[in-house]
Amino acid sequence: MRVELVTSAPDLGGRPGRILPEIVVIGRSNCGKSSLINHILDRSKLARTSGQPGKTRLMNYYLVDDRYYLVDLPGYGYAKVSKVQRAAWDSLFRRLLAGEDRPVAVLHLLDVRHKPSVQDAEVSGWIKASGHPFALAVTKVDKVGTNARPARYREIIETLAVPADTPFFPTSATARSGREAILAWIGALLDANEPEP
Ligand code: GTP
Ligand code: MG
Repeated sequence: MRVELVTSAPDLGGRPGRILPEIVVIGRSNCGKSSLINHILDRSKLARTSGQPGKTRLMNYYLVDDRYYLVDLPGYGYAKVSKVQRAAWDSLFRRLLAGEDRPVAVLHLLDVRHKPSVQDAEVSGWIKASGHPFALAVTKVDKVGTNARPARYREIIETLAVPADTPFFPTSATARSGREAILAWIGALLDANEPEP
């Protein structure tokens, strides 16, 4: 797998000039987006991670195999951001979803330990309404015992009220699990987007 960070953009205007499918990774601040991206890309330190929320402040575009971008977005829901920053984030994400000039799919991340927040549900609603393909990934499943996991998954799915056929990926960057299923989902999206001649 060839991976290259091509752009770190503060806003949509800074997206790469070359149009390719964008798999956008989105989730609450500190939910494990950058860690999961490193796991998916099999690079331990490509995307910067941190125990402090609010680490990722730019849209980071990783070009994968010259075929698509995996995009690390700033997290939402960090308690310390101002109303202005929050509005800017909402606007950025909603404009990204509204755009029809680029193929976009969304990987929405939820920390397995928490019931989805009001903002998680709001974001999920925007994603559903956008019509773009999307999937849920729960992160940090290593933090919950195997027996307790199904109830956690059910609560997340029910709270977000996503369609029953929504792809759902339990993941752990620490335990290095979930990568293959997500790569298979991405591969199927790419194949559907660029049918064989
Ligand atoms: P922001 O960029 O600040 O929005 O955060 P993020 O969503 O990119 O989260 P990040 O990947 O930086 O991880 C946040 C914290 O969770 C770090 O301390 C990680 O080490 C930890 N973490 C991430 N994934 C896992 C996981 O699968 N298991 C465990 N146990 N910890 C994890
Ligand atoms: Mg991050």
